[in-house]
Amino acid sequence: MTNPADAPTSPGPAPVEVRGLVKRYGELTAVAGVDLTVEAGDVYGYLGPNGAGKTTCLRMMLGLIRPTEGTVRLFGRDPLESVHALDGVAGFVEAPTFYPYLNGRRNLELLASFDGDDARGRIDEALETVELADRAKDRVGGYSHGMRQRLGIAAALLRDPQLLLLDEPATGLDPAGMRDMRLLIRRLADQGMTVLLSSHLLAEVEELCNRVAIVRTGKIVYEGAIAELKRSAGATYRLSTTDDERAMAVCRAQPGVGDVRVVHGRISFTADDGTVAELSQALIEAGALIQMLAPQTVTLEDLFFSLTEGDGVVDEKAPAVATR
Ligand SMILES: Nc1ncnc2c1ncn2[C@@H]1O[C@H](COP(=O)(O)OP(=O)(O)OP(=O)(O)O)[C@@H](O)[C@H]1O
Ligand SMILES: [Mg+2]
Repeated sequence: MTNPADAPTSPGPAPVEVRGLVKRYGELTAVAGVDLTVEAGDVYGYLGPNGAGKTTCLRMMLGLIRPTEGTVRLFGRDPLESVHALDGVAGFVEAPTFYPYLNGRRNLELLASFDGDDARGRIDEALETVELADRAKDRVGGYSHGMRQRLGIAAALLRDPQLLLLDEPATGLDPAGMRDMRLLIRRLADQGMTVLLSSHLLAEVEELCNRVAIVRTGKIVYEGAIAELKRSAGATYRLSTTDDERAMAVCRAQPGVGDVRVVHGRISFTADDGTVAELSQALIEAGALIQMLAPQTVTLEDLFFSLTEGDGVVDEKAPAVATR
């Protein structure tokens, strides 16, 4: 597959282009002006805490609800305009739903009957891909949560999609289930599928996605490559001194040092190259002697909190954060 970044000419309309997307429910603005572009070949993470508007945004992308303002284009087509706009697009919002008293295969057969003979012919392959072939004859009511999520992906694969839109595919799965889901999505991406998935699991997104949008109360606070976001954040350090209160003040006053806060009882800050030596000198002069100063690997989790709690406002329904 051609890497779109290398292509000299435009490869055609992007799989997803969202511009100025707003959804209001009465007084409440669930999605507050979202712009994002998912390019062919991306595994794109739409990341935000509970209530950030992820599901609402995905519903608008899939043409299930009408935006209050703004536009969605999937491969250049408006999902509200005709059913054909969703050709080559599949996915689910919230959890996929099935008839619990029917087996996995029968559920897929029913879904395939809406999509024609081609879809019917893909059932075996879809079951193999999601590793449910040997459980296909069991009733879905007896499936684990992870198996149901995988069956949801199998249902999406019946449409032979080029673009998969998945709402929190790994939420509620145990660590092994999450790993299986990650591997499955990675396999699909390697086959050339473009994927947009929403998540509040930062570690998952970091491992799986090449690009992210980080949303907070309906607004995007960052969109772009994870690598770029990490680079722009600079190196993060942890610090403990004989007088942390004074050390915090010194850090805050030091040029080149930013995002000073307390994490797990230690001072955390970001610093440009070369500023740490000057900072340590300033700490000594202020009488805050260093007991521990260590560089940290920046995780998306650090970045997420610095972006979403930057002005000190903490979402009370704060994210169930995946830690490693
Ligand atoms: N049909 C609706 N009517 C009224 N308010 C709604 C409706 N759908 C969503 N909301 C509100 O919009 C906001 C965003 O909800 P949404 O479900 O999109 O968030 P989310 O990011 O998917 O959250 P979660 O991580 O919990 O799934 C919430 O405050 C929610 O209560
Ligand atoms: Mg949701």
